[in-house]
Amino acid sequence: MSEQNDLMLRVLRGEKVSRTPVWMMRQAGRYLPEYRATREQAGSFMDLCRNADLACEVTLQPLRRYALDAAILFSDILTIPDAMGLGLEFIPGRGPVFAKTVRSEADVDGLPFPQMDDELAYVMNAVRTIRSELNGKVPLIGFSGSPWTLATYMVEGQSSREFAQAKTLAYQQPEVMHALLAKLTQSVTDYLNAQIAAGAQIVMIFDTWGGALPHWAYPLFSLDYMKNIVAGLNKDSEGNRVPAMLFTKGGGQWLHLMKDSGAQGLGLDWTTSLASARKMVGEDIVLQGNLDPGMLRANPATIHSEVQRVLSDYGMGHRHIFNLGHGITPDIPPDHVSAFIDAVHEISPAYHE
Ligand code: CP3
Repeated sequence: MSEQNDLMLRVLRGEKVSRTPVWMMRQAGRYLPEYRATREQAGSFMDLCRNADLACEVTLQPLRRYALDAAILFSDILTIPDAMGLGLEFIPGRGPVFAKTVRSEADVDGLPFPQMDDELAYVMNAVRTIRSELNGKVPLIGFSGSPWTLATYMVEGQSSREFAQAKTLAYQQPEVMHALLAKLTQSVTDYLNAQIAAGAQIVMIFDTWGGALPHWAYPLFSLDYMKNIVAGLNKDSEGNRVPAMLFTKGGGQWLHLMKDSGAQGLGLDWTTSLASARKMVGEDIVLQGNLDPGMLRANPATIHSEVQRVLSDYGMGHRHIFNLGHGITPDIPPDHVSAFIDAVHEISPAYHE
């Protein structure tokens, strides 16, 4: 691991590059047999997150197989609510479940601010271990959930389709929801700054459920808090700004608002055309995306032509980072991922004259 690949950082700094960098959301995960083996060895998913050496191992697994241009910290967005005492468990077939929920003013008042050098120290240990092991091979992405997305899990107590409880709280008692979001904003800012201090070179905010909000409520309950976080990010140890990226799933129609968030990059799901997104955000913002992860079930020839479609949709230019429109799913054959990554390497140089 001696080669130094800073392609993604150079794109985020606005420099010219010779091809499109590529990585995948959830690139370390259950579609890889070696991930399943390490997860088994760890015991539970949270035990894997809490063990810096094993978290580092699974972070590096996809990089050994594929020519990826970034590593992403192996952890989860739900570490913050867990550290606030809600008691997180991942139940097979059901996903994340919390022992406690947050549904009243008293519940919000009772939530402690998690300490980055105590309850969340295991995350920073993982960042330090991974960064040192990567040794410059590719940049390391740190991440957090957005306050709104974390709040939906904390209010519901689990994954949800309708967000019945979270929306009732937001619409009926907005001041309580805002108090929760403000607490989370402080915690997420501290969390990302601690990851930066530990060596994260890019930070990404996952706003998986921002797109569930009505148009008028998206800025109020989600975007404004993310802006606040971006404004509160520290520089790295050399005094350089650490690029920030926002991903609101289902947020393509709000890019004209997101472009002024202060983030250098915006992630897109597959419902938005990169060409129209580029017109909305202008040439100063990097766009990341947006192959439908479902496309990875198709055969390698189809994957190749769909990569071509995404690249030509963005067009000529240096401000695109290739990714999926959401995380890769456990059923994807690993050789289909090779076809995807190889196609980006093969086709994208033609878009960088
Ligand atoms: O991208 C990566 O490779 C880094 C690691 C990462 C995970 N989760 C590992 C994980 C990241 C960046 C996340 C973010 C995350 N977690 C989000 C936001 C991004 C998105 O996908 O929208 C959300 C909403 C979560 C919450 C979460 N974590 C859920 C709903 C689940 C259960 C999913 C399921 O299919 O069971 C998780 C668990 C989880 N997080 C797994 C992984 C690899 C699977 C756990 C396992 O090994 O059993």
